[in-house]
Amino acid sequence: MSQIPQSVMVGPSGPLRGEIEVAGDKSISHRIGMLAALAKGTSTIRHFLQSEDCVNTLRAMEALGARSYFDEEGLLHVQGTGGKLIQPAGALNVGNSGTTIRLLAGILAGQPGVFELTGDESLCSRPMARIKDPLEKMGAKVELTGERGTAPIKITGGPLKAIEYVLPVASAQVKSCILLAGLFAEGTTSVSEPMPTRDHTERIFTMLGLPISVIGDHMTLQGFGPKGPSLKARDFSVPGDFSSAAFWLVAAAAREDSCVTIRNVGLNPRRTALLDVLTRAGARVDVHPAADAENGEPYGDIEIKGGPLRGVEVGGVEIPNLIDELPLVAVLGCLAHGETIIKDAAELRVKESDRIATMAANLRLMGAEVEERPDGMIISGPVALRPTGALRSYGDHRIAMAMTVLAGFAPDKTMINNVACVSTSYPAFWDDYRSLGGHVQ
Ligand code: S3P
Repeated sequence: MSQIPQSVMVGPSGPLRGEIEVAGDKSISHRIGMLAALAKGTSTIRHFLQSEDCVNTLRAMEALGARSYFDEEGLLHVQGTGGKLIQPAGALNVGNSGTTIRLLAGILAGQPGVFELTGDESLCSRPMARIKDPLEKMGAKVELTGERGTAPIKITGGPLKAIEYVLPVASAQVKSCILLAGLFAEGTTSVSEPMPTRDHTERIFTMLGLPISVIGDHMTLQGFGPKGPSLKARDFSVPGDFSSAAFWLVAAAAREDSCVTIRNVGLNPRRTALLDVLTRAGARVDVHPAADAENGEPYGDIEIKGGPLRGVEVGGVEIPNLIDELPLVAVLGCLAHGETIIKDAAELRVKESDRIATMAANLRLMGAEVEERPDGMIISGPVALRPTGALRSYGDHRIAMAMTVLAGFAPDKTMINNVACVSTSYPAFWDDYRSLGGHVQ
């Protein structure tokens, strides 16, 4: 793997062509890393995502008593705690990772002791009241010691009781936090979500034989009380990350003569709404699902061919299943003919950056007219992309990568600053881009 650069110069790219297998799914890697650390014995995980976010999950679980290492073939071995977590020496710093902080808070809420969770500046500015409320209803004490309901978080864990909770926001992280806490509660926890969000936690629980039942948007889980479930170590395999594949899907779809195949990528329908969006935009997408599943997760190959695209409208129930791909829908809006409208996506404002503001600022620098709305944006395309001063990532990995895709369509070189954040989710991004024919220095 080549070194992660601090800034890059992205050159105009021709059609993208070739086959690629992207690294393992970030959301699934986090969940498997945590559950393997709770199990008894050593689990082996194939294709665990070796990115900063997921390594932060492993480090946090190590501070709680697990052991883990990657062997020479890249297989991850996690020696679990058998559910007996130790008191960490100090605060657990999980860097940029919202998934780690919110899911781990659920586990810690059910453990006796006082735990502190913190992260980088971006993470410490993101809303955490959404996990405080349900966890306190279950009986934990959750203090948000940052300004405005934010991390650092101090959790005084202990015996939990099950709750019936209706999620006020469509968030898989909050849902998963409650389900993980529910494992350590007395009684049956129930969670309803306003719209379907990614269901990796439910799928992994089901695969592990944990007593979860899912009916539509409602799930119930029988708790095991303070001792938690008796999980046994096992082998896991993680499919490729659809959200990483998404960069190449959009880059290829918008360029005549591009033809890219992504192999062994996750095809969980709660993640792949971008495929419907691309199809509506007129892209030629072929999906070849594998006959089996990886740990309850469907996967397969996606083939995409480039051509002219038309603007699309995205909103409503598809938003949670597209949430991390919305910066790319904005990119598509600059390349497609007609208006692209993103609505019902106010959650974008509380991601690693305010992705409505940071995308709008970068797109304007490249010549786009963007109408920013509280819950989305409107872009008229195609934009006559112009040479510009440096773009900024705002320390947000998905902004850095989405802008790289758009910069490949500009007539001249484009500088993007502060791109080391890409290693949060996709350390091989630059290598993969080059392997498909992209130009970046
Ligand atoms: C994630 C859920 C989503 C997503 C994030 C990962 C997860 O966040 O944006 O990148 O692993 O559960 P929300 O659940 O807060 O929408």
